[in-house]
Amino acid sequence: MQPHRLLMAEHQTILHMTTDIGRRVARFRESGQVDLVYVDTSTDFIHSYADRCHHGKEQGILFRDAAKKDLDPKLAQLMDQLTQEHAWARTLTERLVAANQAYREGESGALERVLTALKNIASFYPAHITKEESRFFGPCMEFFTESAQEAMLVEFAEFDRNLIHEKYQRIVEDLARESLD
Ligand SMILES: [Fe+2]
Ligand SMILES: [Fe+2]
Repeated sequence: MQPHRLLMAEHQTILHMTTDIGRRVARFRESGQVDLVYVDTSTDFIHSYADRCHHGKEQGILFRDAAKKDLDPKLAQLMDQLTQEHAWARTLTERLVAANQAYREGESGALERVLTALKNIASFYPAHITKEESRFFGPCMEFFTESAQEAMLVEFAEFDRNLIHEKYQRIVEDLARESLD
């Protein structure tokens, strides 16, 4: 398998989720009732999967290696654009995580911020994903030999393997800090 195929499979999962988020946020607004477990679950998905796991591999491995190649200016420019979009997605994600935290702490207006952040994230992904799949991945892969692509897949797997430990170590540290307060 080529590395971008794995990223494209992750795109399908992200699109599945963002479609669901769009549908549910509209429903929450209509009914005035919010499923808080869903808000927590979708916040975790966006933070841990879409931002950390998926963009982590794209930017930290694929883009890092592609930047060392002699990409033609248009492709290099597109990669810069995608990097900026990742930064924007991270800003949206940080807003979502902060709003969700504020909501849990009972801050007024925080729930509306959570719903807006979820909706903005759900609208962001489809265009970004289309751009990567239709204009970037294919031409970019041509700069990598078969063995370089295999090495990239190994690095992807190592990156993913470490994430579960990173996530739960952070959870344990946060809980331990809370119990000391
Ligand atoms: Fe991306
Ligand atoms: Fe992507």
